[in-house]
Amino acid sequence: MIKTLEYKVFMTDGSGEAPPSAISKPEVACAALERGGIIFFPESPFKFSDRDRDFLLSQKQKDADYQKNIAYRPAEDRVSGFEANSAADVERLRSIMANFHGQVQRFLQVFLSPYARSWKADFASYRPIEEQGRPMRLRARNDLLHVDSFATRPIYGDRILRTFINLNPENVRVWNTSDNFEVLSEKFKNDVRRPKSLNTVPKKPSPFHSVIKALGLKSSGGSPYDSWMLDFHNFLKENSEFQQYCRKDRWEFPSNSSWIVFTDMVSHSVLSGQYAMEQTYIVSKNDLVCPEKAPINILRRLYELD
Ligand code: SIN
Ligand code: FE
Repeated sequence: MIKTLEYKVFMTDGSGEAPPSAISKPEVACAALERGGIIFFPESPFKFSDRDRDFLLSQKQKDADYQKNIAYRPAEDRVSGFEANSAADVERLRSIMANFHGQVQRFLQVFLSPYARSWKADFASYRPIEEQGRPMRLRARNDLLHVDSFATRPIYGDRILRTFINLNPENVRVWNTSDNFEVLSEKFKNDVRRPKSLNTVPKKPSPFHSVIKALGLKSSGGSPYDSWMLDFHNFLKENSEFQQYCRKDRWEFPSNSSWIVFTDMVSHSVLSGQYAMEQTYIVSKNDLVCPEKAPINILRRLYELD
């Protein structure tokens, strides 16, 4: 049973912390997230033993620029991107991340129950590298404001929901957020290309797709929605005027706090912090409480597309 239901909602439209809701129904939490809120738990509902924490805090990561994070794939129950001293360490990290995945899954199944109908558990990630001053290719930099696009396979308008925990025993993890997708897509309407269509029926992948995949490159996989979102993600990161002058809110997530956010709606950047763990869910567009706030429907209205 879930005990830690004490949470706050940080709105990212400049209105700050939302007044606490008297109702703790899952639909209320879902609506807060879909409207661009960050649900913040001062004390994380996800628990790690002291031994597991010590192990996590002693880990490094290989090829930091190339592979952004250590990943755990729930469907295959395995980790990748981890520089281990021994097979035993790999197994240890696998079991810690599998445990985290299980805790998040059980918690969200109740807390955000409408989404559990048909969501897909995507990767969990472990982020042991200090984010401040981290050398990265521009489009991979997470200290630049962006909305997430899903690079590994097309999601056709489904949503990217991320659940974080700051495992750092001493330091906060610092984020900036700016205007949400609804505001930014309208603001930059004339600076970006119009989506060709937002048809969500999967197209047959082109012959190049498998080559692109085999090379490990990012690809939209033939979905107009996904390729538009990837372009918009890149456009925001490359827009230095926006990065410098846009409205910003700063959020500090303390040690052992957790937060949940639709990162395709909330523009965000991480300014500093080391040792976070995160689990991604792909939430079906059919299970949303406020479907009009889904980026795909925002784009449909904005560009008058079916
Ligand atoms: C991101 O999703 O852009 C980075 C978030 C984080 O690592 O805190
Ligand atoms: Fe991001």
